[in-house]
Amino acid sequence: DWNMPDYVSEAIESIRKKVGKDDVILGLSGGVDSSVAAALIHRAIGDQLTCVFVDHGLLRLNEGKTVMDMFAKNLGVKVIHVDASEQFMSKLADVTDPEEKRKIIGREFVEVFQNEAGKISNAKWLAQGTIYPDVIESAGKGKKGQTIKSHHNVGGLPDTLNLQLLEPLRELFKDEVRELGLALGLPREMVYRHPFPGPGLGVRILGEVRKEYADLLREADAIFIEELWKTPSGTVSEKGAPLSWYDATSQAFAVFLPVKSVGVMGDGRTYEYVVALRAVQTQDFMTAHWAHLPHELLGKVSNRIINEVRGINRVVYDISGKPPATIEWE
Ligand code: XMP
Repeated sequence: DWNMPDYVSEAIESIRKKVGKDDVILGLSGGVDSSVAAALIHRAIGDQLTCVFVDHGLLRLNEGKTVMDMFAKNLGVKVIHVDASEQFMSKLADVTDPEEKRKIIGREFVEVFQNEAGKISNAKWLAQGTIYPDVIESAGKGKKGQTIKSHHNVGGLPDTLNLQLLEPLRELFKDEVRELGLALGLPREMVYRHPFPGPGLGVRILGEVRKEYADLLREADAIFIEELWKTPSGTVSEKGAPLSWYDATSQAFAVFLPVKSVGVMGDGRTYEYVVALRAVQTQDFMTAHWAHLPHELLGKVSNRIINEVRGINRVVYDISGKPPATIEWE
């Protein structure tokens, strides 16, 4: 039987015993797993933990500020915020192939992270938010022999850092990680966040990645997510709490389509880009249904995006299941 307060104190004890007086580095992504790992390790060893947050320029709106506010300001965690967006953008210029984009983002990420980690001279440990399903999945990979998309995550750092691995969430399932996050004082909106891919908006901007596209996409995506949080889905949680449409979907986001279509605005004709909205419901992300969002909600999101995001004049809704479509568009 699982008891949260006991689990927290045991986990803290075990981290302290393991690392002693050594310093620990953790790559903070803003996702649930690395955030909960950071909060737990910080609870255990305080300033011996340094987090590195790499902004590759393909993060969601205000992501850097949100992460810094939550960890550096509120929890007092040491966080190095690296703005590497220009480096990533220049490496991605003219690259259109999805797997090639993933490889470049993954490679640059490792380089930036290693560079920062190298500055923390006393560090002996690399902490990661690996959870039990990740352990199972990577054990199974050899057998399947192939991955359909190269799922790089902030986890996949090479051993050239010469650091020992600290993975305090290795035995936990996702719902246990969430419970632990709440017990450690992380806000609900953080703990119940949808997954966000390592390559970020890089796989949600079709074809060539440009800063201009990323900026438009960030605005559109933030509007969609805000409306999902605000709109009750009419369903309730196991404990009877009303669930928003954000809670009632497994993943939701906007996708930037670099095609222009004609529109009208006032007396004028516009010729601007298209955004697709994607929202899915799934248990395991291997198969997924598109979410039957209410038309009123979709209409509101569409109106807001077209009115508020200069450069987008058309919004479409993705009604493809997985399979045959994937959840991401690239
Ligand atoms: P697909 O698009 O394959 O997505 O149906 C399934 C789940 O995996 C996530 N995803 C990724 N996560 N790096 C990641 O860390 C990636 O390159 C990547 N590609 C897809 C996707 O967001 C969904 O949750």
